[in-house]
Amino acid sequence: MGNHEDKVFLKRFSIIILILVGITFAIIFMATRHGPEVDPATNPSRMALADERTAPVGAVRTELPEGADAVAAVPAAPVDPASIDGTAIYDSVCAVCHNAGVAGAPIPGSDDWATRAEQGHDTLVDHAINGLNAMPPKGGRPDLSDAEVIAAVEHMLAL
Ligand code: HEC
Repeated sequence: MGNHEDKVFLKRFSIIILILVGITFAIIFMATRHGPEVDPATNPSRMALADERTAPVGAVRTELPEGADAVAAVPAAPVDPASIDGTAIYDSVCAVCHNAGVAGAPIPGSDDWATRAEQGHDTLVDHAINGLNAMPPKGGRPDLSDAEVIAAVEHMLAL
């Protein structure tokens, strides 16, 4: 390869490079000027991404799942008072304090209990449901119905 050929090659090579650079700029120009104008604030794919990134991690369910009202209605059904087992309620809830006299809880059958029983059924029931000093309302079991607490008091009176 002679010196002359090298110069010819370099000249053509430079021209080709220049043409390619020109095409590159032409493409950039066309893309920026003639492409569809999309405002980033209204670009749907950007908005979808932004929504996804700023979505809350959790949500509060304000409606019961389907069929839940049927389940929730079950405990609301009228309870037959005769079916309430006052003995079982006393043994599982009240006995923990009342069998041993914890914090001054009157032990059924004791003199203290007899004095309290003189107040009458309704007062005892009222104190058992609403509490009295160290005696917590419903023995600390707010899930018990009034009828269940009454059954437990009646069991205590029978002891
Ligand atoms: C955490 C211990 C505790 C539990 C559990 C508890 N009681 Fe009592 N109860 C007491 C104490 C203490 C008193 C005495 C309160 C006072 O006179 O100051 C008392 C008093 C009573 C009295 C007498 C109230 C009066 O007018 O003198 C009744 C009735 C009674 N409890 C019923 C119940 C029933 C029914 C339950 C179970 C559903 C129950 N208690 C569970 C601690 C308890």
